[in-house]
Amino acid sequence: MLKNDTHIGSPRSRVDGPAKVTGKATYAAEFATPDLAHAYIVGSSVARGKITGIDVAAAGAVPGVIKIFTHENRPRTAWLSFRHKTIVGPPGRPFRPLYSDEIQYSGQPIVLVVAESFDVARHAASLVKVAYEQHPHETDLGRARSDSYEPPRRRLGIAPPPKPRGDAAKAYDEAAVRVSAEYTIATEHHNPMEPHATTVIWEGGGKLTVHDKTQGVQSSQAYVARVFGLSSDDVRVISPYVGGGFGSGLRPQHQLFLAVMASLALERSVRLELTRQQMFSHVHRPETINVLSLGADQDGKLTSIQHHALAATSRFEDHQEVVVNWSGLLYPAENVDLRYELAKLDTASPGDMRAPGAPLGVFALESAMDELAIAAGIDPIELRLRNYAERDENDDKPFTSKALRACYSEGAERFGWSRRDPKPGSMREGRELIGWGMASGVWDANMMKTSARAVLGADGKLAISCATSDIGTGTYTILTQIAADALGLAMDDVTVALGDSSLPTSPVQGGSWTAASAGSAVMAACQSLRETLVKHAGKIDGSPLVGAGIDDVAFAGGRIMMRLDASRSLSLADAVAAAGGSVEAEESAGPGLLGLMLPKSHSSYTHAAVFAEVRIDQDLGVLRVTRIVSAVAAGRILNPKTARSQIIGGVVWGIGMALHEETLTDHRLGRIMNHSFAEYHVPANADIHDIEVIFVEEHDDKTSPIGVKGLGEIGIVGTAAAIANAVHHATGNRIRSLPITIDKILADAV
Ligand code: MOS
Repeated sequence: MLKNDTHIGSPRSRVDGPAKVTGKATYAAEFATPDLAHAYIVGSSVARGKITGIDVAAAGAVPGVIKIFTHENRPRTAWLSFRHKTIVGPPGRPFRPLYSDEIQYSGQPIVLVVAESFDVARHAASLVKVAYEQHPHETDLGRARSDSYEPPRRRLGIAPPPKPRGDAAKAYDEAAVRVSAEYTIATEHHNPMEPHATTVIWEGGGKLTVHDKTQGVQSSQAYVARVFGLSSDDVRVISPYVGGGFGSGLRPQHQLFLAVMASLALERSVRLELTRQQMFSHVHRPETINVLSLGADQDGKLTSIQHHALAATSRFEDHQEVVVNWSGLLYPAENVDLRYELAKLDTASPGDMRAPGAPLGVFALESAMDELAIAAGIDPIELRLRNYAERDENDDKPFTSKALRACYSEGAERFGWSRRDPKPGSMREGRELIGWGMASGVWDANMMKTSARAVLGADGKLAISCATSDIGTGTYTILTQIAADALGLAMDDVTVALGDSSLPTSPVQGGSWTAASAGSAVMAACQSLRETLVKHAGKIDGSPLVGAGIDDVAFAGGRIMMRLDASRSLSLADAVAAAGGSVEAEESAGPGLLGLMLPKSHSSYTHAAVFAEVRIDQDLGVLRVTRIVSAVAAGRILNPKTARSQIIGGVVWGIGMALHEETLTDHRLGRIMNHSFAEYHVPANADIHDIEVIFVEEHDDKTSPIGVKGLGEIGIVGTAAAIANAVHHATGNRIRSLPITIDKILADAV
């Protein structure tokens, strides 16, 4: 494998870059068809209660309105709860749009207006009048906290907290050095560039082509078929480009259901596109409260770790993520007690957002480690080295690989950590206080069963296909690199088709597993092609490769040649001709059955060390993150250029998490107040300064056959903690609730 890497490991520009920057890449709401109808959602204005009446007279009278759907006149198919379940969904009753008169959250879709144009649909929707019977609601986690509970049923693929080890409370009481505090992270909403949208093309005869904004076309296909009682042969879901997912497209969202419902009922093509405001009416990162207590001996060696987290979920589902386990994984201690609880709110169900759970729990842990370092008078990196986990004590397994030490040392070196004066408030320039902080990051490294097809044509062009999505991560590019190297071709000779449910089976793109999974599947398909080609090449009369086995040859420059005698070679074209004009192979790779992860003999994680510099105006409290160094260990890096982009994206979001992002709810109304980019702040260019990414060398031969561990999510984990630690270093003020806004800096100012 990977014997003649020309492209793998080299920085390559995105193969889909030109299509994206020239506007040729088509997104879910951009597929056109004649006779397309447009839909618009009316959302509930109350958070809990019942609909007592819907007056659609004025809306229905608007010229161009085709049909107005409510719970009273909805089509009669497909309303069983279990049919709406998907593999990535949590336990509970999934939300079913227009199911009944029950209101479960503010913004819940309750009416769908379909019209000849988007503007008519939107205008008519504004004329719909809804009467409600309001019931008491709760959207405040602080108040719901008293009713917290351990989720009785676990979400598939989400590890529960490990069993307690030792007696953490007692060890804490006896510890020489102790820190204990509460750390909170605000609700955040996904705001990918591409809002959720579905264009359903009515193909006639009950067949649908669905252009959906999703991270998994086959997941959307299965959902539509199951919910509407269709044969999956009649539903093709296509999503070649996705304008960012970040977890918001892992589950089918309500726009998919509503667009398909309308299309089937009207026997017509329908598009439903959410507005930016409506993007706040579904999935989000749940508000999470961490209570974290660390006990250590005089040398800073941890003796007790207690991490209890409480996360918000909806009234109807138990969304779960891994928040506290990281605290038993990153540092060893004899006494560990980790707990994870939920509390129900009258909101839409939370969902996965980039590295779900990890940036929340790790913010608490890595803030607390900084506090412990100060309490013990030990340098923060030294403290982490004294508590370095050589083994996964949660699962009692060895790691497949772990180069976190190199992350600390290379990151510190690049950042200039040795020049740091540990005294808070000691570094300044003019009116600016300067703070340097650091934190560790950790995230899962997984591989999921995935299939891919490779077809080499008589023209010497290689066509790769797989149903996986490329949600902007660079999947097209790395698969092109892998395939080109496997057959010894130029990248221009390889095409990759993705995001089509008719292609070989793939799980959703998520969990940072796609490079390892789809990459290994493409490698396996190409290996199978190579074997077929060598077999046929040896059979040609007078073949220079007669008697050659697969291990005797190399593929390079469009030729197959003997490894030990390059003068004996044959063109790929001749080998393809001998094989009958084209060669095709489809192969799967993966440890799992049905795309599920299986228990492994080893634990596999990616790691990072994040270093942050902040500058704070001492009078105004204005805070800038002027420098970040993120040193990442993620196994083999297939493409340093696109990999760097992934980490930068994660770091930028980490800055947003630390300083900007916060969904604000008016709890009297149970309604989100800042559902627009004017008031829900994400980092803009002016907020982003120097970001440096380092990939430390890490060899991993167990996570995936191609040595890849994945890096779509690790970039965000630890970044907010590093920034909060830098804020403390600059000011001496410890801010334990994200985002760190100016008011908090000024309120805490001495
Ligand atoms: Mo990711 S939150 O698994 O898309």
